[in-house]
Amino acid sequence: MEKVCVLGLGYIGLPTALLFATHNTKVVGVDINSDVVNSLKKGIPHFEEKGLPELLKEALDKKTFETSTEVVEADVFIICVQTPLDKEYHVADLEFVVLGCEMIIPYLKKGNMVIIESTISPGSSENLFRKTLEKSGLKAGKDFYLVHTPERAIPGNTIYEMINNHRIIGGLTKEGTEKARKLYEKFVPKNKIHCTDAKTAEIVKLMENTYRDLNIALANEFAIMSEELGIDVWETIKYANFHPRVDILKPGPGVGGHCIAIDPWFLVETTLNAQLIQMARSINDSMPYYTLRLTKQILGSEIEFPMITILGVAYKGNVDDTRETPALKYIHLAEKYGMQIKIHDPLCKEFDGGELLPLEEAVKDSDCIVVITDHDVFKELDPAKIAKLVKQKNVLDTRNVLDHEKWRKEGFKIKILGDNK
Ligand SMILES: NC(=O)c1ccc[n+]([C@@H]2O[C@H](COP(=O)([O-])OP(=O)(O)OC[C@H]3O[C@@H](n4cnc5c(N)ncnc54)[C@H](O)[C@@H]3O)[C@@H](O)[C@H]2O)c1
Repeated sequence: MEKVCVLGLGYIGLPTALLFATHNTKVVGVDINSDVVNSLKKGIPHFEEKGLPELLKEALDKKTFETSTEVVEADVFIICVQTPLDKEYHVADLEFVVLGCEMIIPYLKKGNMVIIESTISPGSSENLFRKTLEKSGLKAGKDFYLVHTPERAIPGNTIYEMINNHRIIGGLTKEGTEKARKLYEKFVPKNKIHCTDAKTAEIVKLMENTYRDLNIALANEFAIMSEELGIDVWETIKYANFHPRVDILKPGPGVGGHCIAIDPWFLVETTLNAQLIQMARSINDSMPYYTLRLTKQILGSEIEFPMITILGVAYKGNVDDTRETPALKYIHLAEKYGMQIKIHDPLCKEFDGGELLPLEEAVKDSDCIVVITDHDVFKELDPAKIAKLVKQKNVLDTRNVLDHEKWRKEGFKIKILGDNK
């Protein structure tokens, strides 16, 4: 049985490792975080994802999945570590991938394949990771294969999408690409695998997320415009999207997550001509400021230290992931303006920007409830109960997610971002 060593057991690495382990492959999952490894040894995934506990159980029962903090000898090494943004220079921080390559070097043998699934900047497979791995004395393309296959699965539906999404595979050589194609055919349908070169595969992923970032920036610009024009952006976007070739995304308080808010910068760093991309980034990054401006308009200037309740700090609805969340920027800005912040997010377990409170505590004495995340559970909130706890019945819904009629019936004044009709 082929043996795969997966480095990085996060949102992408763990489901990938388990899909191989449940498809006729022996897998050793490696993570430098011993808490992750220990939790998985006990059969407990360290984050929420649909179907993940069952998949872990299946792999452990089959005895095809082990975890370790150390790399082991294998036929294939798959790197799924984080690639954050270097916030000072706005470039990809690839040090975790480089470390992954260095950890593989002592175990790399002739005929092995190294696959990078992490999102990386254009040309880095050839110019950085190849060179790092060749410190082993082995030559890429001759002694071992180096391949990039970007991951595009969405948190919340990762396992389904890892199997059913189209997969782009690009190796430094055709032989490597072909070998990787055969490997992924273990769980991805043949007709959904597309083979190309490494640089193209790197850029495909970045283009996809840049496209979405630009589309959201456009929706945000439409929202701000709608406030000025006295119309409802949600209604206009709905009607515009009836056009068979139009698909405008939703406006909101900013863009977060590990991909869309970051990946466009990986393209910007490689070219001098990415002005549109930078403009979109700047529009989306300005949305927390705009949300704060709307909050101040709602509150007026009477209250000295208003109490703001934040509903949702996950970067998007129905996930527990707060990475790059616009909530953090909004909270920092609001605090600078003397606002007191109380936070409720029933899905998140931890958050850097403040204590997560039960709903009743978070809304107590509130002057304004600001909805940052479109969790479905917020649709079910009982405004009658909340009305008894708040100081002022103000709501700013930046995601148009609440059942507004229900809230209005209880005397709440509702402001929806982008709706000034
Ligand atoms: N999360 C997503 O939705 C998503 C979607 C598509 C692509 N991606 C990309 O996939 C990559 C992984 O993202 P993620 O969300 O799974 O990250 P993550 O932060 O959830 O997980 C990364 C894991 O790698 C471990 N790690 C770091 N360096 C290591 C090393 N050298 N050896 C072993 N383990 C190491 C960390 O401890 C962590 O557990 C990133 O490049 C990301 O941009 C993520």
